[in-house]
Amino acid sequence: MSTKAKTDPLDNLLDVMGKMTSTLGHICFFGLRRINLKDLVLWLKLGTAISCLMILTLGPENHLNQALRFLDSDGSNSVISLVLKIPAGIQFGLLIVIPLVLSLVVLGLSAFMEQGKLQKALNKVGLKSALGKEPEIKRVTKTGDLRKKVTVETHGIGLGSFEAKRDSLQAAFRMRVESIESANDLGQVEIYLCAKELPKMVQYADLYKYVTDPYSIIIGQSSKGPVIQSLLSLPHMLISGATGGGKSVFFRSSMLSLLKSSPHIQLYLLDMKRGVEVKEFSELPNVKTAKNKTEAISMLDTLLKEMHRRYDILENAGEKLVDPVRDNLDIIVIGIDEAAVLFSKSSDVEGAREKISELARLGRAAGFHIIPATQKPVKDAIDTDTLDQMNGRMTFRMLSSAASTAATGGGAAKKLPAIKGRAIWSHGADEIEVQTPFINDKFLKAELEVIKTEFKQGKRQNFEELLTVGKPVFKKNNTAFDSK
Ligand SMILES: Nc1ncnc2c1ncn2[C@@H]1O[C@H](COP(=O)(O)OP(=O)(O)O)[C@@H](O)[C@H]1O
Ligand SMILES: [Mg+2]
Repeated sequence: MSTKAKTDPLDNLLDVMGKMTSTLGHICFFGLRRINLKDLVLWLKLGTAISCLMILTLGPENHLNQALRFLDSDGSNSVISLVLKIPAGIQFGLLIVIPLVLSLVVLGLSAFMEQGKLQKALNKVGLKSALGKEPEIKRVTKTGDLRKKVTVETHGIGLGSFEAKRDSLQAAFRMRVESIESANDLGQVEIYLCAKELPKMVQYADLYKYVTDPYSIIIGQSSKGPVIQSLLSLPHMLISGATGGGKSVFFRSSMLSLLKSSPHIQLYLLDMKRGVEVKEFSELPNVKTAKNKTEAISMLDTLLKEMHRRYDILENAGEKLVDPVRDNLDIIVIGIDEAAVLFSKSSDVEGAREKISELARLGRAAGFHIIPATQKPVKDAIDTDTLDQMNGRMTFRMLSSAASTAATGGGAAKKLPAIKGRAIWSHGADEIEVQTPFINDKFLKAELEVIKTEFKQGKRQNFEELLTVGKPVFKKNNTAFDSK
């Protein structure tokens, strides 16, 4: 005969109930952690619903019970009879607790399940401490569009052991492990995962087909698909990032998309690297280039004059914003590569910083859009007033946290992988990782040739001639230019 003691069914039931309560508590805890301002609306609605129920329930006549009695007038429904036996205070308590728990369950369930799934995957890898304990996932935090951070309690397992299992972790999580770092709490490690990899290279032509509106810039490929931005709603865009990240390539691709998509546009391109990045553009009848400081200053002077002329036009017409078609005025784009050479505090000549700042502050209404590219978006490189106007920001990889913070307001640009053309695009509240379009010189030349031919054949026409850039207006006593 078996000597095994019979387990009491009540014990079993209590055991199961205990486990269920603990799981429910856990899910609610995840739900609580997810509550943020965005969920505030949900909580307000819930609060209102509870107040309504309170009025119904605890009114002088206790409306809920009256309604229940009405529904079950002969007392045959056992559930209703049971509810009616519960004192009104407890009924009310349940009415608050049940929706509260339910809403926390709804909020926390997906995070709870995700953590469970990741924990199972982590267990598969077979990491164990000397005492046979498995690492335990404490938190999963979304750190970007594609990325999450998994914080793990190591139970004494060293960072090196996690590193050694990197491949297995990748296979178990079915995600790329970007890095494994020790957390502030030295008993924990942080595993950075990337869900889906963006392509390492996207061709310009493959994205241009998504351009449908005039005055468009191709931003790049994001995890959610191609991103195209209207110049008119930008209105200005800053391109920044460490050398070799892809600023100039993006600058050129942006200028090409603008030229291709826009019927009435003039480009004024300033490249302080002796014009190498804008050379191909210079043959177009609607592009003017400046390849050194002297040319750049006189170009800025001319543009300022034009901006004020346009303000006069707007004022006379009683309008607020240039409309190319209504006013027969072309949209003007001022593109500046290596902007710091021209605008940095140390090399500021003839108030270039002030000129660009004025154009950036007042330009929009006059149909002026400014697109500077620079390595570091700091006040030493470009005037803070100008930086403040740069609503659109394309930030390639930065090498320091300080530069990343200056560009994106956080460390996102420093954390970018070392892939050429990879950047953070931010406009308004949106911030997404993109692979910017690649364009080679041969393709660019061929595309520009097509536009040139269109002008020759009269298929394209601007409203106005390009501005005539005169001699720079030097201030008296300035020696910076005399030697040039
Ligand atoms: N979007 C891109 N996709 C792939 N490779 C790129 C991309 N942009 C730039 N590159 C590569 O990186 C190199 C440096 O790019 P560049 O635009 O000159 O950098 P920066 O102006 O930031 O110094 C280019 O010559 C090109 O080979
Ligand atoms: Mg460059």
